[in-house]
Amino acid sequence: MSLLVPKSMPLLIPKPMSLLVPKAIGTFILAAVLVTGPAFGQQTGTASLPSLKSAYRNDFLIGAALNMRQIDEKDPAATALIAQQFNALTPENSMKAAIIHPGWDRYNFDDADRIVQFAEKYHLKVNAHNLIWHSQLPPFVSHIQDADSLRHFFTDHITTIAARYDGKVYSWDVVNEALNEDGTLRKSIYQQRLGDDYIVEAFRLAQKAAPHTLLYYNDYNIEHGKKREGAIALIKKIQAAGVRIDGVGIQGHWSAAHIPLEDIENSIREFSALGVKVMFTELDLSVLPSPWNRNTADVGQQAAYADKMNPYVNGLPDSVSAQLAKGYEDLFRLFMKYKEKISRVTFWGVDDGQSWLNGFPIRGRTNYPLLFDRQLKPKAAFYKVIAVAGETGTR
Ligand code: XIL
Repeated sequence: MSLLVPKSMPLLIPKPMSLLVPKAIGTFILAAVLVTGPAFGQQTGTASLPSLKSAYRNDFLIGAALNMRQIDEKDPAATALIAQQFNALTPENSMKAAIIHPGWDRYNFDDADRIVQFAEKYHLKVNAHNLIWHSQLPPFVSHIQDADSLRHFFTDHITTIAARYDGKVYSWDVVNEALNEDGTLRKSIYQQRLGDDYIVEAFRLAQKAAPHTLLYYNDYNIEHGKKREGAIALIKKIQAAGVRIDGVGIQGHWSAAHIPLEDIENSIREFSALGVKVMFTELDLSVLPSPWNRNTADVGQQAAYADKMNPYVNGLPDSVSAQLAKGYEDLFRLFMKYKEKISRVTFWGVDDGQSWLNGFPIRGRTNYPLLFDRQLKPKAAFYKVIAVAGETGTR
């Protein structure tokens, strides 16, 4: 499989960060966990770890993106950790069109079926990802020239897959990443061949094929500016057409150093005011420098540049680890403030070794964006996230 990534994805937008003040921790047990921190996990193993899904059980679902190695239970320690920590999963790649619909009239449901079985076995809700996206399409789609043929593919794709998994998955990302940064519609193959209404049409078809499944729009940077306005307009358009949309997913690929808390808070308010649930669907916090503003004139400095962009190959300094933990703490405090509006928070992966951010937007880096390290040990950030649930009195 050739893995394509969204090309224009600015992960790291510098923004002022409004910091929330930490509160005292309520219970002795939680305090003990926090004091002992990672050593607690190391000494006692996974079995005695606090659990994210238990800590937030009254608030929102806690999910992770899983790959097929995890679904196929290749590593028993990873399986135990997933079962203990999460009550929702999103397939990281295996339900994308390139895999599930590799030929014009050929579907391959093998991976998706195993995902559903895994979810049943360990009691996780599946957010199926995704039906309509410009990326990770099977190659034959880009050769479809006429609108009728593309409409045929589009209708068949949505109807076949959504119907097959109705009642088996909890929700669908019906449309993924349809917006440009300025809030206009991305000129994807769907938009170009089918026109702007393809999004309403996708939800209409999904609603018909999957009446028991929640239907979402999912995108990155929609917490921000014109793109947020574009997402609001899109949701209103779907609703005005009398078509069901149940939620909006803010992906949440942020930089640990620049989390746009104010934008996130405003977007939770504004999206939920439309009557849809808000979710954080692909949460990870990069600790590495951003390449987006690179001056391309320095081609002679390739080696130095590569080192500069990949500074933590031998481990994460304590100061950066603390920044990551603080970032997650601030975010989860905000999520708890709006827990009535938020139905799920999903991390884009379980552990740092799995993260796509080791390969994107620069290949071969060592990133540390998640709550568990490469040995599946909980990091300081994990204990902060657990602590936030405790301090707000919902346990
Ligand atoms: C990423 C996967 O994590 C990678 O393994 C793959 O190579 C590319 O896609 N937005 C999305 C996700 O909606 O599907 C993307 O997942 C990350 C960005």
